[in-house]
Amino acid sequence: MSFNDNVRKVFTDQLNEMKNGGIFKEERAICSPQDSEIEVEFPIGSAMKHVINMCANNYLGLSSHPDVVKAAHDGLDVRGYGMSSVRFICGTQDIHKELEKKLTEFLGTEDTILFPSCMDANGGVFEAVLTDQDVMIADRLVHASIIDGMRLCKAQNDSFKHSDMNHLEQKLQLHQDKRLRLIITDGAFSMDGDLAKLDKIVELAEKYNAMVFLDDSHSSGYIGKTGRGTQEQCGVMGKIDIITTTLGKALGGASGGCVSGRREIVEMCRQKARPYLFSNTVAPVIVEGALRVLDIISKSTERRDKLEENTKFWRKGLTEAGFIIKEGETAIVPVMLFNAKLSQDVARDLYAEGIYAVGFFFPVVPKGQARIRTQLSAAHERHHLEKALAAFIKVGKKYDILGKTKQEIIDKYGM
Ligand SMILES: Cc1ncc(COP(=O)(O)O)c(C=O)c1O
Repeated sequence: MSFNDNVRKVFTDQLNEMKNGGIFKEERAICSPQDSEIEVEFPIGSAMKHVINMCANNYLGLSSHPDVVKAAHDGLDVRGYGMSSVRFICGTQDIHKELEKKLTEFLGTEDTILFPSCMDANGGVFEAVLTDQDVMIADRLVHASIIDGMRLCKAQNDSFKHSDMNHLEQKLQLHQDKRLRLIITDGAFSMDGDLAKLDKIVELAEKYNAMVFLDDSHSSGYIGKTGRGTQEQCGVMGKIDIITTTLGKALGGASGGCVSGRREIVEMCRQKARPYLFSNTVAPVIVEGALRVLDIISKSTERRDKLEENTKFWRKGLTEAGFIIKEGETAIVPVMLFNAKLSQDVARDLYAEGIYAVGFFFPVVPKGQARIRTQLSAAHERHHLEKALAAFIKVGKKYDILGKTKQEIIDKYGM
């Protein structure tokens, strides 16, 4: 069957359904480097607008840092543009090994293996390590890439209610007959911005002889006193068996991910993880950029300290203004609006005020939990946050949501 009109209709019907249901995602074009201030075309093709960026994963403000850009340039000159190979054929340069060693030191683990992305790391690790004699017990709010990775693995797939340690304990008791038990959690949960109770999880893992898997993509580089992530914040450095993280957020923001942890587990990934074996190696320029990032953040905590200050200022400002935010300590600060259309209207009005933030609603977050997810960066100066706060307050007043309870907002706008 060729791509005839009938076939085309199958897809246009589905796309139209998404548009009519209000869940069609429109792309925006950023026409500048990633930073606290950016140039945006939204919709694409419209006039470019200069805005303050409140929704990047650029937590440490290193995505356009001149030293990182220079390291990438130098890497390009010295190591070339691409490797045209997967790692195990002829895609491993000395700098890939150097970066794996530096990540191991930074995360305080035994070994590290790079992947083209953390999506790939999560896609490959479970199948490489577990068999049908084992069980995976995942927090119900883990990232989509973990869910996909678990689907590819033959081990039994189970879950516990979000951050509910009693429920996790019940599941661990239930699965005592399995060869291996793997508890799976994110560090910072990307939609709510809360941190896993990793100390409690480790305690339960020790009690019930389980391994712990942590995806620290939204924490690596800035959570914990020296930015080593959730394991540092929760006082369990060295006790996590498998850590996955991304180079695509705080650690430079380009791309790439890794599995870091127990030596034997990393070696199993080298032998068996399919995205490692069958997808191209991380480009040399990214490796050089990431090495410089690790250098910068290993020498000084200045950037994560500034981010912590910015986060406190922002959380306090929104709360005092009367917004409902999700409590927490991470640089992910969701402003709760509950109603999907309201989240889109508020985001649009913020954009008109020069503030770029995106409204999320079902199916990205549960029904009735629509929100604007704001994210802080060390690249934000106080004047950026003051301007953003003033815009939030202006728009909040327009929709009469300041100081209102969840129920009052729902009564006015619906779920
Ligand atoms: C928790 C988590 N894990 C994994 C990923 C995927 O990372 P990458 O962009 O490196 O594929 C993301 C990205 O959104 C994430 O938030």
